[in-house]
Amino acid sequence: MAPKSFTVVSNDTRGPYATLTLRGEVIPSQPGQFYMLRGDWGLEPFLGRPLSILGDDPVRGEVRFAVKIVGEGSRRLHALRPGDRIYGLGPLGNHFPLSGWDPRSPVVLTGGGVGVPPLAFLARRFSENGVGVIFCQGARTSEDLLLVEELEEIGVSPHLATEDGSLGQKGLVTDLLARELEFQPGAVFACGPEGMLRAVARLCKGRARCFVSLEAQMGCGYGVCLSCVTQVLEEGREKNRRVCKEGPVFDAEVLPWL
Ligand SMILES: Cc1cc2nc3c(=O)[nH]c(=O)nc-3n(C[C@H](O)[C@H](O)[C@H](O)COP(=O)(O)OP(=O)(O)OC[C@H]3O[C@@H](n4cnc5c(N)ncnc54)[C@H](O)[C@@H]3O)c2cc1C
Ligand code: FES
Repeated sequence: MAPKSFTVVSNDTRGPYATLTLRGEVIPSQPGQFYMLRGDWGLEPFLGRPLSILGDDPVRGEVRFAVKIVGEGSRRLHALRPGDRIYGLGPLGNHFPLSGWDPRSPVVLTGGGVGVPPLAFLARRFSENGVGVIFCQGARTSEDLLLVEELEEIGVSPHLATEDGSLGQKGLVTDLLARELEFQPGAVFACGPEGMLRAVARLCKGRARCFVSLEAQMGCGYGVCLSCVTQVLEEGREKNRRVCKEGPVFDAEVLPWL
């Protein structure tokens, strides 16, 4: 598998966050899929970094991502400027299940941090397909809330929760989700820190179908290096699954958290 070359069209930065638009040969993707991205920066860091697709336009040859600075790789992605070259391998991994949902029962998308970009892509696709979307986003403080304007542009007004109460309801995103579960949503889709995903999965158990997108440290991104293995429960037994290949999206029922 060979990465393709892309050119940075734009990079909108806000503090430690950046929204990147790349131009090149773009294969159509689905929400939940990701790319391994690596700048033209020599040997360090050596491996690409996985970033979820925020949106794509294969006809224009554009694909978008949102990145948060965590370490050296994400810092370099955040620092890219229009005209810079970048190498991308993707789309990779599976995706959130898009069909089979009753348009009369809205779905609930629940996320925080860098879990928000794939959910924003999912919100767009569901809206295009006529499925009602309720979007719950949580963050430590208002400055960590992501893509709120982008969601409003596609007609999804997110319910917000911040731990310090600086915007939206004071508390956790799971407080917002607990309220929505009372209205029997069609399904729940979640992405964000693992602690949040565990809490979401437990809340949904016996009340709503729940799909979560996992994060893992990745080497190759396409199933070869086994650095991203997680355990799932199938037929009563724990089995190894690669987050990059069989995931990153899993039915919460198979995760040994509940
Ligand atoms: C499928 C998938 C989709 C992702 N989508 C996005 C996205 O849309 N936007 C975004 O900003 N980030 C996303 N991430 C996370 C992103 O890949 C990591 O933040 C990035 O690889 C960190 O690289 P770095 O060189 O900046 O930091 P490093 O120097 O590699 O690591 C810095 C610190 O972060 C920890 N860390 C690194 N990667 C991860 C990880 N995946 N999970 C938990 N801890 C980690 C390391 O252990 C270390 O402590 C995604 C990850 C996965 C697996
Ligand atoms: S990242 Fe290499 S197998 Fe998943």
